[in-house]
Amino acid sequence: MRRRDFLERVERLSLGVLGASLSGCGGFYYVNPEVLDNRLAIPVAEFAKGRFVLVDAPRLRFPLFVYRDDDGNYSTVSTRCMHRGCQVEPGGDHLVCPCHGSEYSNTGAVLKGPTQRPLQRLATSVEAEHVVIELPAAGDDW
Ligand code: FES
Repeated sequence: MRRRDFLERVERLSLGVLGASLSGCGGFYYVNPEVLDNRLAIPVAEFAKGRFVLVDAPRLRFPLFVYRDDDGNYSTVSTRCMHRGCQVEPGGDHLVCPCHGSEYSNTGAVLKGPTQRPLQRLATSVEAEHVVIELPAAGDDW
């Protein structure tokens, strides 16, 4: 699919779901992204409510944590802890694993062990007022 076709399709789909895509779960906001081919798109407007959103993505076992920093840059990490695979949770200015206490920055860097590895990151960009996330290839261990 050409980039222009992708963005036009996202715009059409977004009009139908904007304002109805947020749902509360455990006190965190989950956003229902538009899924086109191997990409997810979230309207930038969703971040007016906070610095991050959680996203359930097709084929992925763990939600994605999509974060906007002070400079307006977006990043996306898996919430699968790289120690033994529990789901990390947003903890204000960082992510915390409830199983053994590992901590990560909001962009996935290790702040505290026992984990030794950063969270898995996905390429993230902004196109036509949407945060666009490139999903991993089918078969990758996510
Ligand atoms: S599984 Fe996350 S710290 Fe052990």
